[in-house]
Order: sequence, then structure tokens, then C-alpha cells
Amino acid sequence: NVSIWHVCCIGAGYVGGPTAAVMALHNPNVRVTVVDRDETRINAWKGRHLPIHEPGLASVVRLARDGSKERRQGARGQAAAGATKGSQTPTDGSSHSSRQPNLFFSTACAETIANADMILVSVNTPTKLRGVGAGRATDMTAVEGAVRDVAIHARPGTILVEKSTVPCKTGQLIKDILEAYRPGISFPVLSNPEFLSEGTAIRDLMKPDRVVIGCESTIPGHRAAAALANLYASWVPRSKIAPIGLWSSELCKLAANAMLAQRVSSINSISAICERTGADVSEIAKSVGMDARIGSQFLKAGLGFGGSCFRKDIASLTYLAESLGLPEVAAYWQQVLEMNNFQRDRFARHVISSLNNTLRGKKIAILGYAFKKNTGDARESPALDVIRILLEENPRCVAIYDPLCSAADIQRELRVLEDDRPLMRPDGPVQIMSSAYEACADSNAVLVLTDWDMFKNSRPVAGSKPVEVAVDQFDGAAPASILRLPLRSEKPPTPPETPKMQTLESEQDDRLVPEPPCPADCTECQTSG
Ligand code: NAI
Repeated sequence: NVSIWHVCCIGAGYVGGPTAAVMALHNPNVRVTVVDRDETRINAWKGRHLPIHEPGLASVVRLARDGSKERRQGARGQAAAGATKGSQTPTDGSSHSSRQPNLFFSTACAETIANADMILVSVNTPTKLRGVGAGRATDMTAVEGAVRDVAIHARPGTILVEKSTVPCKTGQLIKDILEAYRPGISFPVLSNPEFLSEGTAIRDLMKPDRVVIGCESTIPGHRAAAALANLYASWVPRSKIAPIGLWSSELCKLAANAMLAQRVSSINSISAICERTGADVSEIAKSVGMDARIGSQFLKAGLGFGGSCFRKDIASLTYLAESLGLPEVAAYWQQVLEMNNFQRDRFARHVISSLNNTLRGKKIAILGYAFKKNTGDARESPALDVIRILLEENPRCVAIYDPLCSAADIQRELRVLEDDRPLMRPDGPVQIMSSAYEACADSNAVLVLTDWDMFKNSRPVAGSKPVEVAVDQFDGAAPASILRLPLRSEKPPTPPETPKMQTLESEQDDRLVPEPPCPADCTECQTSG
């Protein structure tokens, strides 16, 4: 049996940070160090304001990173119990009165790699923007860089685990790089794709549907897989840990994401038919979802899927299929992406036609920029495409408010829309607001593009005449509804004394609106860690 005392996780992002924290929480005798080249990100992980927002994440990180003394038992109980609701009691020492810190964050990549028994590679694998396969193939630069560091610094026998989502056969590429730098030295390579969803990452990690571990069919391969399985077995039932082949493991992640996205595109294609016929897509989704063979999840019609994974993973799958000489397979999955684009396009055009086919002189408020609630991740938001189409109509202003996405992140994403005119000047057509009221004030339409709980059942124009929902088929399917507001010539909306939205905000707990992004001048972040 291979003993694991020190795990190094390369990449302190949405996957690396939460995964390492949960693994450390449940394996108090294992030292888990997350390394990243991005010093700002590492400092944030060390400080009070974490760089990513996930319900329950802060308590898990604090417990594993800072340890606990007897008096903090309550907090620890909360972290473990809240996130593991219904799961077995973790063997994380939480029944003991104190624990030592075993989760660390560092920029010392080489040194940490050299001390590790197992290395999880959780670096970014975006779509290639240039060159061969641009727009579809996976950009493997970060994986290559991380593997090169492992090849140079790791001790012989160190287990390397692919956690990043990678094309099928990446294991071979990794072995080739290792062999090129350290000929003749054995480094077992495993694939352990991550299935967490942003917004529910801690819940998903604490109680996963399955943990897939892919290995080569060799004795070192099986031993390495058993060592990783033992780490997971601290909190995941053995029956949910699935050992499979290396290539199957790599491909199953792409297949899972493609099939989930395909359900979204399927229901969205039906929503387009509903609009023409008068059928109600939410009634259809409900009755179709009640079929036990189909199930109810991922059948919500709306703007379509966003986020950093689905689009890029399907693009990677289509590229893989094409590279394997399977154009029909590539075309099949490509259609899932086309339907997604069609839906955004259709929605934006519906907004424009609802406003008499012109946006000149008009202000459009956008509530929610994140691709889903409970995350501050601004990457690949459907809102970007909607805004792009709206801007073609020269509106007076597109005012955006999101409770978690930082203005800097939204601005970075919107930069791709800038042509010769800067969009985000103080007097430019795109404004990022610090409250929903500011965004909605004096606007001609409010588009709810993220299904944040704070927007549900709220009346952003409380005090004005009742909100009229302009796009019926999108209505039952937040995100993506249009709320028609009084025209500017009518009485402008004024927030009431105790507006409902503010009441909701003040009542909010961690699940509704987690801590807002850390202010740039936060002294705690600069001084702690
Ligand atoms: P991310 O972009 O948030 O984080 C990646 C981090 O890796 C960055 O902080 C970057 O600085 C760091 N990095 C890159 N190369 C490095 C190197 N050589 N040494 C040290 N640090 C390095 O990415 P995210 O979202 O965490 O995704 C990571 C992988 O997990 C991707 O393959 C993604 O497809 C996959 N995934 C993502 C999920 C998500 O919801 N974000 C869910 C499941 C899988």
C-alpha cells in the first residue's frame, strides 16, 4: 500500500481550492498544500476574503487552514455538519476537541512539488484561441507547464492526478512529458475528473454522486488508484468510488458535461416551439421530468447554459470527434452549442422587439451577470451575448448589477465587446452599478439574467405600476425574464421606504448572497496570511 502524507494541488482556482480544502478537512493527518503562480490569488486564500465565493467554503477553509481549539468546536461542527448534511460522519477528527492546521496555500511550487507524495493538477484548460483547432481544441499550456514542473521537481514514484478536464488520451501526453524530462523514472498517472458545480461546490464535494478514478491497468497504476481512493474513503462511501480505465475516466467528464448541456438545449428547443404554439414550456418540462427514465434536472428553459465548462468541454468533444475522423459525431454535439446560441439570440431580439424595435435613448437594466446564482464567476456568462446584441441597437445605457461578480471581473469579460468605442468610460453606454435600485432607476426594461434568490419574487420597481412580464415563455424559466417598466416619460420608479428587495437582502444568509467581493483596499487581506 502506498501511504500519502503530503498532497500538493497545483492550481488554486474554483476546483483546486475547494477540492483541496474538503480533502484536508477529512484527512487531518495529511498535509494538503495548494500552490499557484498567481500570488494575489494565494494571498486571498490565506486571508479572510477568499478569492472565490461558494456557500460553506469559508468555514471549511478556516477549519482546515487555521485549525481549531476546543472553544471553536461549534464552528467546526457547523462547517462539517452543514456541508455534509445527511452524509456519514467524516473521519476528520471533528469528534475531537481540536485539530491542527493541515491546509496550506503557497506560491512555492517547486518546493511543494518536491515534498509531495501525490500531486493534483487542477489548472485551467480553456479553449484555444489561436492556431490549429482555435475555438474548439483545448489549450493545454497550463497542464503542460504544471506537468513540466512535476517532471523537474517531483520525487520518483510521486503520483500525478489529472483533476483538470482534459481531452481523452491526455494521460499519454503527460507520460511523454515526464519521460522526456526524467527518462526511466516511474510516475503513476491517474485521472480523477471533478464533477462539482459552481454555487454548490462544497455540497457536491462533501456528498458526491460518484468519485471516478481512472488508472492504467498495471500494478503501480492500481496501487496509485488505491492510495487516492483511500483519501476519498475518509468521507465518501466506498460504493461511490468507481475505479475505471484512464481513457474512460478522461472521456467520462466530457461525456457527462455534454449530456447535461444537451438536456438544456433540448428543452430550450422545445421552448421555441412553445412560443409559436402557445404551449407552456414549464408545464412540458414538469411532465417530461416526471418520467422516471428522464428525471427532472436540467430541464429548465431559459437563456441556456453558461459558465466556464459546458461550452468549452463540448467544443473539446467535437474537436476530439473530428480529429478521430468522426465528423457526424462532431456535428451532433455541435448542435447543442448552436441551440444555446440561438436561445440567447432569440431572447435579446425579443427584448428589442418588446421595446418597439429600437433601444436608442433607452436604458436597460440587467439584474445578475453571473451564469448562475451563488457564484461570483463572471466567465462565459450568457449575459455577455445578450449585452452584445443590445449594444448593436445603441441604447442610452446598459446598467448591470450583480450581487457577487466584482465590477473588475465584469469589465474584463465585457472588454471583448469593445471595438473602437470604449464601452465602460464613466459616460459610456455600459455602467456597472452597486445596487439593483441604481441599475433599475429610470430604466425602460429590467432583464433578470441570473436566478439569484434576491431577484425572485422581488419587485425591482416597487412603488410603480405592476410589473408586466413581456416574454411569457421565458418567464417561468428564470434566468431570463424581461420585466417591462414604465416608460421614462411616466413617473420614474422610486424605491419605497422599506423596499422588498432590501428586506430580502437584509434577511439574507450565506445561501442567498454570500459575502460580497473583497474591497481592493481591504486591510485585512493585505495584512493577514
Ligand atoms: P481557474 O482558472 O479558476 O484556476 C486555475 C488556476 O491554475 C489559476 O489560478 C492559475 O493561476 C493556476 N495555474 C495555471 N498554471 C499553473 C502552473 N503551472 N502552476 C501553478 N498554478 C497554475 O480554473 P478552474 O475553474 O478551477 O478549473 C480548473 C480545471 O477544472 C479546468 O480544467 C476546468 O475545466 C475543470 N473544472 C472546472 C469546474 C468549474 O466549475 N470551474 C468544474 C469541474 C471541472
